[in-house]
Amino acid sequence: MPFTNEQIDEEQTHFANVVATFQQYGPYALYANNRRRKDFHTLPLGDRELLESLGYKERINAVDKAIMANAEFLNLVIANPEIFGHDLDEDEPHLDIHEVEGSEQGAHSHDYPQAGPSHSHSHSHSHSHGSHEHAHGGHAKQKRYKPSEHDMDKLRSTLKQLVRDWSVEGKSERDACYEPMKEALVQHFSDIPIEERRNFRVLVPGAGLGRLAWDVANLGFACQGNEFSHFMLLASFYMLNRTNKVDMHTIYPYVHSFSNNPNNEALLRPITIPDVLPSSLLEGSEFSLVAGDFEEIYGTDLNDPEEPQSGQWDAVLTCFFIDTAKNIVNYLRIIHRILAPGGVWINLGPLLWHWEGNTSNDPSVELTLEEVKMLARKIGFEISNERTINTTYTNNAQSMLGYEYHAAFWTATKIV
Ligand SMILES: C[S@@+](CC[C@H](N)C(=O)[O-])C[C@H]1O[C@@H](n2cnc3c(N)ncnc32)[C@H](O)[C@@H]1O
Repeated sequence: MPFTNEQIDEEQTHFANVVATFQQYGPYALYANNRRRKDFHTLPLGDRELLESLGYKERINAVDKAIMANAEFLNLVIANPEIFGHDLDEDEPHLDIHEVEGSEQGAHSHDYPQAGPSHSHSHSHSHSHGSHEHAHGGHAKQKRYKPSEHDMDKLRSTLKQLVRDWSVEGKSERDACYEPMKEALVQHFSDIPIEERRNFRVLVPGAGLGRLAWDVANLGFACQGNEFSHFMLLASFYMLNRTNKVDMHTIYPYVHSFSNNPNNEALLRPITIPDVLPSSLLEGSEFSLVAGDFEEIYGTDLNDPEEPQSGQWDAVLTCFFIDTAKNIVNYLRIIHRILAPGGVWINLGPLLWHWEGNTSNDPSVELTLEEVKMLARKIGFEISNERTINTTYTNNAQSMLGYEYHAAFWTATKIV
């Protein structure tokens, strides 16, 4: 079904606002850092001298430099926003849901077919959920957007997400989260010769910056990631399509907070990305990323037996994703429906219900882990391989504060 002009406008405006957030990161972050400099100058001379002897002012200056390096990188990421089909100056882009099927990209091409308005609510797995902003209405042609602190928070999270997915530093987190999922996938298809894995279609909804989906494609499966946040889509597009060297970029993801740093290194250490060459996928691998809302793309009509996604997937891998549901019943129904008989759903994640307490009047269903599993069984899954995996999520590994999730892992097979 084509989207309404209003929806397209809303999407266009939202995309333009995200690009504006990238553009204004530098001045915004420098301004915040300059506040420290100003505060310093309000102190008595004796205090300033003591702090100077500790190197406090030099640290503030070093953070400025790091912010400028981040800004340079972020400007590269948004250098060509038109590749997303959004002409920032155009009045009415024409996106139609039917464009998705035809435009899906094949092997080694990581362009994003657009499923239409993606209603991007980007949720970092931080601990500040409950505010779910829509980019409301209006038109792409408007006064320069002034990014909110919430926008900037998402952008800072994107920098940390780059560490998780595309740096050596992120390896331990990836080992904790992605490895068990890949192992379970390989285990489920252990009787399939590697060269035949390409006949098995794996979907990774809420793919973030795409590493898990990329890894799965590298195992030889035909893999599709799906993501709706423009922050994620812009960054993953750049990583997958515009990086041609390992360690090509240096970013400083941890310079935005002076709290809980044991030393300068914790705050200022550079992170190089990518740790692997994204274009080095196995010869002949099939990998695509589809932009848009999971429920809109894969769950178009649950009552229609001819629904094109129905039974089309051999595996669905959800990593830190199912708690993004407003209605978990619908998520699980879609996963069940799009799986082929005997297909497998592999899950890892907490239950940090993203819509709990939202201020946008969206519904939110918040189940316990026990209830989620009971629901999955009622919908037609047999759950096995259950365990808890302790893991961080985009933490600064050197911070004096760290959150650890006791994430639930399982393999679920579609039995009915
Ligand atoms: C917590 S992140 C996890 C990202 C990635 N799976 C990982 O483990 O790093 C959840 C992701 O799901 C995406 N997301 C949330 N709701 C979505 C939806 N309805 N459709 C597509 N993506 C969605 C968010 O934008 C976000 O990137």
